[in-house]
Amino acid sequence: MDKFKITGGRPLSGRVIVSGAKNAALPALTAALLTQERVVLHNVPRVRDISTLRSLLEDLGVDSSVTHEAHGNRIEIEARQLLNPVAPYELVKQMRASILVLGPLVARFGQARVSLPGGCAIGVRPVNLHLKGLEKLGATINFDHGYVDAKASGLRGTEFYFDTVSVTGTENLMMAAALAEGVTVLENAAREPEVQDLADLLNKMGAQIDGAGTDKICIRGVSRLHGAEHTIIPDRIEAGTFLIAAAITGGELAVERCNPQHLAAVLAKLDEVGVQLVRKADNAANRTATLTAKAGNKLRSLNLTTQEYPGFPTDMQAQYMTLMTQAEGSSVITETIFENRFMHAQELARMGAEINVNGRRAVVRGKTLLSGAKIQASDLRASASLVLAGLAAEGETIIDRVYHIDRGYERIEEKLNQVGAKIARVSE
Ligand code: UD1
Repeated sequence: MDKFKITGGRPLSGRVIVSGAKNAALPALTAALLTQERVVLHNVPRVRDISTLRSLLEDLGVDSSVTHEAHGNRIEIEARQLLNPVAPYELVKQMRASILVLGPLVARFGQARVSLPGGCAIGVRPVNLHLKGLEKLGATINFDHGYVDAKASGLRGTEFYFDTVSVTGTENLMMAAALAEGVTVLENAAREPEVQDLADLLNKMGAQIDGAGTDKICIRGVSRLHGAEHTIIPDRIEAGTFLIAAAITGGELAVERCNPQHLAAVLAKLDEVGVQLVRKADNAANRTATLTAKAGNKLRSLNLTTQEYPGFPTDMQAQYMTLMTQAEGSSVITETIFENRFMHAQELARMGAEINVNGRRAVVRGKTLLSGAKIQASDLRASASLVLAGLAAEGETIIDRVYHIDRGYERIEEKLNQVGAKIARVSE
């Protein structure tokens, strides 16, 4: 298992390029199941979750090929036929987003057998809404030995209200409804940019989807979808992580190829905290920009509550907590999306942070000197917060289980080393 050995206390400076969004690329890959024609995706990040999903698609009988491009990978997928409609436990347990094959498989092939994801480190994370929505669209759902068996002979448009906002739930139902007969209206839908990016791809494939990006999405079903070519949006979480890396090391980073609109809540918070931010448009056509972040004189402590988009993302909560250990005063961080997403707090405490966790609230008292220690990553975003802590700490930090970070950050140690960090990947 790989470890990171980080020598801290080095201000970062230079340019770093943001990769494509993992959470947009995953549903885009599964959307290719909805057509027998070729779907071509650009700017796909080179991260492990994408390889895991490609293995799953291969198991299903789908052909895909990868080529390196200047920015990310180009992936070509052609789902001419289905050999085997099963998403096995071994893959689903590695990556919950495997559930995204469910909607497309049922809609196009009338059958799917997908392992239930079960618990994961950051909480229970049920898929009841995905299943309820598919039932409303006319699928029959049965449970069998830890698997969901879904069958349908043609889905029919419906109205579905999400009683909890779910990102992949919205994506699954949007994909299924794209091939249903008649109109589907999804209410209290997720408004995340990744949902909108998927709708853009589906519309290029011939779907008729309106309202993605709002909480009411209207899908007029069509009888078939065709191939399309699409560029994945930039990863807003990776971009936000780099902005905090600049601030926490007292450095200055130009974070290139990000979409500031998708980062509004994060930028507002960092600005209030005292991070100096400058925005410069770099490509009007694909709406990307360069954001330069520089540490101000002093960081202020500010409370934070995670929310669904357009609120502050739960996927940036851990990184923000690390930043707050370096701010003057106390901050209360409230996690509203997942029930157990403070596992990084105890590792940060091992480095000298003062954090009290009580249920969904954590109180961080700053500023504390962080000192290098042996710590352990527990999940994807928690591991990013530990890397940030290692960069800010005095001395050497060793992070175990960095496979978590490889799931969603493309070569993070290489990108950070190019701007002055000292991170060695040690394989054992
Ligand atoms: C997606 C993101 C993940 C992010 C999360 C919240 C992907 C691949 N992953 O995860 O990075 O942290 O959104 O922004 O895009 N829930 C139910 N029933 C359901 C589905 C969800 O109760 O059927 C609950 C969950 O337990 C959680 C909340 O809804 O408390 C939000 O989860 P959801 O938006 O579904 O997260 P994911 O789509 O899995």
